[in-house]
Amino acid sequence: METIRLNIDKAFDAAGKAQVLACAPGVADSMEKLHKGTGKGNDFLGWLNLPSSLTDAHLTEIENAAARLQERCEVVVVIGIGGSYLGAKAVIEALSHTFAPMLGAGKYPQVLFAGQNIGEDYLYELQQVLAGKQFGLVNISKSGTTTEPAIAFRLLKKQLEAQVGKEEAKHRIVAVTDAARGALRKLADMEGYKTFVIPDNVGGRFSVLTPVGLLPIAIAGFDIRALVAGAVVMEKACGEDVPFGQNPAAVYAAARNVLYRSGKKIEILVNFNPKLHFFAEWWKQLYGESEGKENKGIFPASVDFTTDLHSMGQWIQEGERTIFETVLSVSRMKYNVTIPTDEDNLDGLNFLAGKRVDEVNKMAELGTQIAHVDGGVPNLKIEIPEITERYLGELIYFFEKGCGISGYLLEVNPFDQPGVEAYKKNMFALLEKPGYEEETKAIKAKL
Ligand code: PA5
Repeated sequence: METIRLNIDKAFDAAGKAQVLACAPGVADSMEKLHKGTGKGNDFLGWLNLPSSLTDAHLTEIENAAARLQERCEVVVVIGIGGSYLGAKAVIEALSHTFAPMLGAGKYPQVLFAGQNIGEDYLYELQQVLAGKQFGLVNISKSGTTTEPAIAFRLLKKQLEAQVGKEEAKHRIVAVTDAARGALRKLADMEGYKTFVIPDNVGGRFSVLTPVGLLPIAIAGFDIRALVAGAVVMEKACGEDVPFGQNPAAVYAAARNVLYRSGKKIEILVNFNPKLHFFAEWWKQLYGESEGKENKGIFPASVDFTTDLHSMGQWIQEGERTIFETVLSVSRMKYNVTIPTDEDNLDGLNFLAGKRVDEVNKMAELGTQIAHVDGGVPNLKIEIPEITERYLGELIYFFEKGCGISGYLLEVNPFDQPGVEAYKKNMFALLEKPGYEEETKAIKAKL
């Protein structure tokens, strides 16, 4: 059976490969810490066996909740930020028709997102398009206290209640949050919303295979069982018992560790398929929040090729040699578009006539790989047979496991995010939130 495959041949010469191999003991140690729960952040390891532990009953409950919203709503707004947003956004964008909003009403509700920014115009325009529409809300927040989604929910809940009445609104709102803690849990219990629990031991950026990701993905009409099945495949392929060289997550973690130690401080996740743009956004959060601490960590960046070859391509080819690339390479397209012959050939393009557009894209990919490797940019490649639920599930687990191992190789706690609090503290102080009186005084003195 096909699976995603990691290829490190264009990142290392023989000496470099020996260095990767030399990481095997460190990787084994990291694996043991993950699987025995003896490393830093060990109370957040619930993601490790999550795919294989999801029960049929749990998936059915998610599918049923999705079906209820599908029946009532033409639009569902998923409210959340960071780990409570990016996984669902990544999968839905990858699987959806690129121009879905232009196709008009489909079989499933259109899924829109809110609470991932504090854009006043964004919220105004969202409220504008929801006016007169049959819509529902999925409010996702593990802590239940995050400001961005709380503002969006307050606004949209009021709008929904005004449009359909309080009773009907209750049937159209689902909350995904902690089992007991946080303002959202309290509110959901008091209002009687359908709720799903985010397990205590699964952090936000590792939560896409919980209802945080699965519910919005199911609402959008995609097959969450196939997604989970793909993740299960990688859970096995990246298991503790798999020898180092055959374990893709282990090799990926080792490869990026070797590259980092050789001065490659930036990893660029590259796609040649615009559907994967938000997958890279999910990946950036996963690796950035997990590793960027204690003044360490690879900076995760991303580009969409060939679009960005006409902008960032110059920097990548000839800028400071502190980068390496990880390319998401999709083997097969869903559709077939062939370049037509033109009698006049005024554009000089007849040399491409009869070729599929994807053949051209593949040559762009190969040409870029050769150019960048020649230019001193090591190239890791992840081959993805096609963009489907199954392979996205594989990718998700592969990157999660790679991240856990990589974080431990770097000797940081990959499962906390203390740095995220700094801006919040200042924002609350500036907004004079009750309880922040001292911070308000201190920050005002700085202005
Ligand atoms: O990975 C994380 O933990 C964060 O990015 C959170 O997901 C994000 O801050 C949102 O938090 P919450 O789900 O508590 O609203």
